Amino acid sequence: MATYAGRLTEPAAAERQPANAGPAVDVRSLVRSFDERTVLDHLDLAIEPGEFVALLGRSGSGKSTLLRALAGLDHDVEGTGLVEVPRNVSVVFQDSRLLPWQRVLDNVTLGLSGPGTAGKGRESLAEVGLAGREQAWPNQLSGGEQQRVALARSLVREPELLLADEPFGSLDALTRIRMHGLLRRLCERHRPAVLLVTHDVDEAIALADRVLVLTDGRVDTEVEVTIDPPRDPSDPRFAELRSRLLAHLGIVNGGLQAAGPDSDVPSRRPEEVSR
Ligand SMILES: Nc1ncnc2c1ncn2[C@@H]1O[C@H](COP(=O)(O)OP(=O)(O)OP(=O)(O)O)[C@@H](O)[C@H]1O
Ligand SMILES: [Mg+2]
Repeated sequence: MATYAGRLTEPAAAERQPANAGPAVDVRSLVRSFDERTVLDHLDLAIEPGEFVALLGRSGSGKSTLLRALAGLDHDVEGTGLVEVPRNVSVVFQDSRLLPWQRVLDNVTLGLSGPGTAGKGRESLAEVGLAGREQAWPNQLSGGEQQRVALARSLVREPELLLADEPFGSLDALTRIRMHGLLRRLCERHRPAVLLVTHDVDEAIALADRVLVLTDGRVDTEVEVTIDPPRDPSDPRFAELRSRLLAHLGIVNGGLQAAGPDSDVPSRRPEEVSR
């Protein structure tokens, strides 16, 4: 467990804690400001080991900022509060970020070494349905296939925490639905704690154990999803959760709620917001 307390720039403050002691993620009173504008404002968040949490929020609400802080990618900030995450964290972004000059298998095992590495990489590619494509170059793969390689690259590291920032945002609707099934199966098998940032309310409900909404720098809404998977978007319980979450995002009866002039919620009907 890595702990960053006080200034996030001092990971030297990291301390070892017994495995499985408490939540996988424990964030308390996290503050992150840019140019005196506070984006994360004493934010609290806990994620249990193996729990799948989805994070919704308006554009610019600070979702990626939070994810970067958890990933240890935010080196220049002065934060207050406490961020505890496991040592073994993987991150998946909207673009696959594969190295174009490395073959697919080498992308998956990048930075890993030791006996059995190539074998683990192959297994991981097989898990995402890409057995046989080990020697392909990234630009020979479709966007969905590249994202599957990115997932394989994350999971081969057997992360205790998987952070995903709109990982399916650039994919077409059909590929996205397939990726949902794949991610769910992979998470059931590997059981990492997951924080999935998404704009897609249906994606959040389809995948997560718990859906959070980030507003004004804090988690202001928390909804448990207790519907058994596979979750059917036409299930009335699904629809009820969707309406509730959309209302928290400022969308009521298919349109924008009267919001401030800085409102940036897209004027979409719920069925358009969902897939
Ligand atoms: N390095 C930075 N310097 C200055 N401002 C920043 C920086 N990074 C983020 N911000 C600001 O912080 C706010 C939150 O950004 P963030 O990227 O976390 O939003 P988001 O919720 O992920 O939005 P989106 O849904 O559009 O991806 C934005 O107003 C953004 O302009
Ligand atoms: Mg973002």
